Amino acid sequence: MTERLAVLGGSPVRTAPFPAWPVSDGREEAALLDVLHSGVWGITSGPGKVTQFEQAFAKAHDAAYAQTTFNGSAALFVALHAIGIDYGDEVIVPAYTFMATATSCLLSGAIPVFVDVEPDSYNMDPAALEAAITPRTKAVIPVHIGGLPADIDRIMDVARRHGLTVLEDACQAHGASWRGRRVGAIGDLGCFSFQSSKNINAGEGGAIVTDRQDLAERCWSIHNCGRVRDGRWYQHEVLGSNFRMTQWQAAILLAQLTRFEEMARAREANGLYLARRLSEETALRPMGRDPRVTQHGYHLFITRYDPEGFAGVDRGRFLRALSAEGVPCSEGYVPLYTMPAIRDGAARLRRAVGAPEPEPPHCPVTERACAEEGIWFMQQLLLGTTADMDDIVAAVQKVQRLAHTL
Ligand SMILES: Cc1ncc(COP(=O)(O)O)c(C=O)c1O
Repeated sequence: MTERLAVLGGSPVRTAPFPAWPVSDGREEAALLDVLHSGVWGITSGPGKVTQFEQAFAKAHDAAYAQTTFNGSAALFVALHAIGIDYGDEVIVPAYTFMATATSCLLSGAIPVFVDVEPDSYNMDPAALEAAITPRTKAVIPVHIGGLPADIDRIMDVARRHGLTVLEDACQAHGASWRGRRVGAIGDLGCFSFQSSKNINAGEGGAIVTDRQDLAERCWSIHNCGRVRDGRWYQHEVLGSNFRMTQWQAAILLAQLTRFEEMARAREANGLYLARRLSEETALRPMGRDPRVTQHGYHLFITRYDPEGFAGVDRGRFLRALSAEGVPCSEGYVPLYTMPAIRDGAARLRRAVGAPEPEPPHCPVTERACAEEGIWFMQQLLLGTTADMDDIVAAVQKVQRLAHTL
C-alpha cells in the first residue's frame, strides 16, 4: 500500500497522546487542604507556605534569597524597580522572547532596546549587547530561552565593564545550570514564572532570586506595598504595590517541587536523545549546546527548519503535516519590536523623556527564526519514554520522505 501523509488522509505515525500537563496527585490536594484549614491564606495572615517555598526554591536555584510574586511578569517589574530603574533608562533585551521581558521595562518607564540572538542558541548575542550600550543604558535582561542558558559569562563581562545591572529572565529556565550553577542568581538577580505551561506550575506565580541582601530586601518591600520589615502597617517608604503570592499558589508549588528534579532529569535525558537523533537522522537542526551548559531547563525543545531538506515545503505546511502525524508542534515568537504595543510604547516614552528616536531595529537572526526557521516542542513531550522520542523522529522522517506530496 502506498504510504500517505496523515494530513493528506493517511494514517498518522502516532495516535496516543503525549504526557499530559499539569501533573498533580494527592500531594497538591493535601497541601491545598492544609492551607484551607490553617486559615493562613495570604502572607498578611502569616508566613506559611509562601516562606517555605521561597526557602526551598532559593536552595534549588543556588541563590541566597527568593522573593515570590503573583506571576513572572510581576517578578520582572518588581526586580526592575529594585535595581532603581528610572524614566528614560534603557534596558537591553533580546528580540526573541516573550513580550513580558520588554513590557516590564515599558511599564516601569524604561525603554527596551532590542538586540539580536545567536543563530545556534536563539539567546542574546553578547557582541550585539555591547554594541547597543549608550550612556542611557542601565541594565541588561538576558533570557535563557526555552531553558537553554545564555552565555552568561560573556554577558556578565560586558555588563561589569560598562557598569550595567544584569537581570536574568529565567522564566523558562527552572533547573537550568551553567558551569554547574543554576541560573537566576548568577547575575545580580533573576526572575522565574510558574504560569500554567511552565516546568513548575501553579497556574500563575513568580519568583525573584538573588545573592544580594540589599536587592532581596528591596524586592520584599516593593512587592508588599513599599512596607518596611518592622514598620507600621500603613507605613510606605518605597514605591511599591501588592504583588504578593497567595498561600494557595505556594502550596501547589511546594508539591510541584517534590517531583521537579526527577522530571528535570527525564527532560534532559530525552532532550539529549531527541537532539542527537534529529540531527543525525533528519533534516531538522536542533539548537546547539555550549559545553558550559551543564543542565538544559527544557521548557521548550527548539529546533531549526530549512525547506531545502523538505522538498521546498514552507515551515507552516511542515508543522501542519507533523501535527497531523500526532506530534504537537508550533512556530513560536514574532520579533518583539514589530508588535504595535511595544513599538508605540517605546516611541511614546522616548518622546516623553526627550530621547532620540533610533533607527528601527533589524535583527536578522530573530527575523529568520520567527518567520521560517524556529520550531517548538513543549516540555511535556520530553516527560515521555524513549519510544515517545522515537515516534517524534519517525514522524519527522515520514514528513521528510513524503514532503514532495504536500
Ligand atoms: C521569557 C519569559 N519572560 C517572562 C514571562 C512572564 O511570566 P508570567 O506569564 O508568569 O507573567 C514568561 C512567561 O510566559 C516568559 O516566557
